[in-house]
Amino acid sequence: MSSSFFIKTFGCQMNERDSEIIAQSLQQHDYVEALDMDSADLIVLNTCSIRAKAEQKVMSLLGYLRKNKKRNPKLKICVAGCVAQQEGKALIERMPHVNLVVGTQHINQIPALIANTDKHSQVATELKTDYQIPRFIPETETHDNWEAPQFSGGKRPFSKFVTIMQGCNNYCTYCVVPHTRGREVSRMFKDIVDEVKVLVESGVQDITLLGQNVNSYGLTNQVSDDGSACSFPQLLKKVSQVPNLKRLRFTTSNPKDLSHDLMRCFRDLPNLCPQFHLPVQSGSDKVLKRMNRKYTMEKYIQLVQDLREYCPEIILTTDIIVGFPGETEDDFQKTMELLEIVRFDGSFSFKYSDRPGTSSVKLAGKVDEEEKSRRLRLFQNRQNEICLDQNNKHIGRIYEVMVESGSAGKYQCRSITNHIVHIEAPSIFEPGSLISVKIHHAGHHSLQGKVL
Ligand code: SAH
Ligand code: SF4
Ligand code: F3S
Repeated sequence: MSSSFFIKTFGCQMNERDSEIIAQSLQQHDYVEALDMDSADLIVLNTCSIRAKAEQKVMSLLGYLRKNKKRNPKLKICVAGCVAQQEGKALIERMPHVNLVVGTQHINQIPALIANTDKHSQVATELKTDYQIPRFIPETETHDNWEAPQFSGGKRPFSKFVTIMQGCNNYCTYCVVPHTRGREVSRMFKDIVDEVKVLVESGVQDITLLGQNVNSYGLTNQVSDDGSACSFPQLLKKVSQVPNLKRLRFTTSNPKDLSHDLMRCFRDLPNLCPQFHLPVQSGSDKVLKRMNRKYTMEKYIQLVQDLREYCPEIILTTDIIVGFPGETEDDFQKTMELLEIVRFDGSFSFKYSDRPGTSSVKLAGKVDEEEKSRRLRLFQNRQNEICLDQNNKHIGRIYEVMVESGSAGKYQCRSITNHIVHIEAPSIFEPGSLISVKIHHAGHHSLQGKVL
């Protein structure tokens, strides 16, 4: 009888994509997906360690799983992803009921490694520089005879993530990613285009290309068989030409090396969605310098102006950290001023969190928790007001939206601008359907539309 698996994913889109790859490799080794965690023979936690809170969530779930293991001693528990990469063997010492710890570059070896865990737990966390990102289509199969295995962990069947590079060489002083994902490695561009073709042919309409800093795609290793170069804007052009691809997006981009070639893609590529996530982190040059972000506020504001010139309707979102070590009230006010200057359509904002192995741990001037919470509250309150103002501008506009979930009566859809659009309609729309709606109401984080 075949064994069953259940994957719980934490963290960013790259982890979501990795979970699909894990599911696929397990399915190729005769595992079937379990309906829930409690009935699975193998539980995989694909983890995130970006902030202390993310790691705590993993640890408390692992604590809870002790009970499952007592009830079913044959249960296997695998910890994959960024916490696994950082903790390695130490994780098994803290949590002896874990059978396998798999780092970010070993996820496709899970079936083989788990088979060796009957007597002893296993750890695979070596980080290589010549690492190859696993292919979605297995090496042994061609694009023509291959059918994607089903995995219900993929939240939106008509939208898929495609990893184009992994790792990061930027070493922002607060960030664990260079430590958990290793050095920057770009995939061969042909592999990426092939993967997008297969996905689109199987019905996917919305593709998001993933990398920690897509601007440096193709800069650190060869990405074509003949050694010719391919920059990120060139890759975007090639992907956008895949027949029948409706919507193309990408994330994330570091402002330090955002080029005009890339900005022009928003003007020139018709299926590239007019939305851009451009994390700024802080509005103070002093703080940006201590974060090792390598740009100034002036440069960031100029980039936003240029971007809006190329594509006036572009939707701009960002990430902010408040309470970075040494951030004074004056520095924080500069972040608040930036909000008024740029008027982001949305943002993700976080309290600075000390992460093991990062250099900001040693910086002086730590801001206390209460003060970080106060700054976060002030930031989010003002950003929410701006979100509402920005969203109100969409009232009266007509968008083609893609149905993501819901049933006759109420549906949740997504626009090219990446807004969630709620609609009420008595008709039956399958997920993935594209329908025209007119926006009649705006909230802080979503829009409402009427079917035309
Ligand atoms: N590669 C992306 C960021 C990925 S991490 C980029 O460079 O833009 C996602 C976000 O988490 C970051 O943009 C940052 O705002 C936040 N973050 C990362 N490390 C953090 C830390 N130690 N404390 C608080 N927030 C952090
Ligand atoms: Fe982290 Fe900076 Fe790399 Fe983004 S660019 S992943 S914030 S080190
Ligand atoms: Fe988290 Fe790792 Fe992504 S730390 S944000 S899962 S790269």
